[in-house]
Amino acid sequence: MKPGAMAGGSPLERHVRSAIAAHRADRGALLPILHDIQAEFGYVDPAAVPILAEALNLSRADVHGVISFYHDFRASAAAGTHVRICRAEACQAVGADALVEHAKTSLGADVGGTSPGGDATLDQVFCFGNCALGPTVEVNGRLAGRVTPERFDALVNAAKP
Ligand code: FES
Repeated sequence: MKPGAMAGGSPLERHVRSAIAAHRADRGALLPILHDIQAEFGYVDPAAVPILAEALNLSRADVHGVISFYHDFRASAAAGTHVRICRAEACQAVGADALVEHAKTSLGADVGGTSPGGDATLDQVFCFGNCALGPTVEVNGRLAGRVTPERFDALVNAAKP
């Protein structure tokens, strides 16, 4: 083990190593491994990057590049209400950009950011596969189509604990 590597104990490292073992033989193993990590923890902790780089014989920059290229991956935990808005073409054609502007104002958060009170995180996604019913928004894992600004606010309010 290289100096500085975690000694097998943390839940993160254990999960990262088991995800690597499960997907190592896959073509393009990094993506399924990252999805696996995000599904488990809700985000890809930057501490996973050196483990992945070493195990897959990639540079840390390569791993970072993939994480930041795919907007599905987060580098930190989302807040209590996690809002994701589709910005792909079909949703854009029916007002996704305006909806994102509304969401930023309504939540007080930029895309990729968390509201000042820390209660909501706003992210963007490039297609949920719900293209015929855009604009598409997901709030805490529940997908909604044809979302207007008014409906957006209602969805977010309904998701509050
Ligand atoms: S383009 Fe938005 S769900 Fe596909």
